[in-house]
Amino acid sequence: MKVVGFVGSPREGGNTEILVDEMLKGASDNGAETKLFNLNSLKITPCQACERCKVNGGECATKDDMQTLYKEIRESDAFVLGAPIYMWQMSAQAKLFTDRLYAFFMTGFEEKYGKKEIALAFTQGNPDANAFNDYLNSVKDMYGLFGNVRDPLVAGGTHEPGEIRGNEDVLKRAREIGKDLVI
Ligand SMILES: Cc1cc2nc3c(=O)[nH]c(=O)nc-3n(C[C@H](O)[C@H](O)[C@H](O)COP(=O)(O)O)c2cc1C
Repeated sequence: MKVVGFVGSPREGGNTEILVDEMLKGASDNGAETKLFNLNSLKITPCQACERCKVNGGECATKDDMQTLYKEIRESDAFVLGAPIYMWQMSAQAKLFTDRLYAFFMTGFEEKYGKKEIALAFTQGNPDANAFNDYLNSVKDMYGLFGNVRDPLVAGGTHEPGEIRGNEDVLKRAREIGKDLVI
């Protein structure tokens, strides 16, 4: 059982990474092998809309670090995407990654690589964890193209890096979601 985490914050060791890491620890508690990638440190080009993925079985023609992540996802049983909310939406780093998953869409991905277990984790300055519910539920629906998606976990009121450590409840829930990914 392999679970991969993707972190869409430029702040290494920041709140988003801590939240994703907690999910991976939960998965690891249940025996999974885990890996974490910081999207900000990778070269991920925006989708060029060449549509070549649609004629060559889902292989993206852009040869950058996303090729490593495609392989990780194909070989995983579950994955986690974590992102800070920037201007009411996921960060650009997370969006670049998400757009590039288009290559997997409508190319028989599930038949070839199985249905993935998926968790979504968001951090935001706004203390109201429900503030961006409509948007986050739409992200959840879209990630449903690739597998079974858990309700997004939101940590509100996180400003300074590491502030999330004061929110034991959200960290506990992250660990539980991580455990639940290992089925
Ligand atoms: C460019 C930028 C835009 C942001 N926009 C929002 C926002 O729209 N709503 C919000 O609640 N927090 C917003 N924040 C706050 C971050 O989402 C929050 O501090 C988050 O926990 C940062 O995650 P990190 O510690 O992993 O970097 C913004 C922060 C930055 C730097």
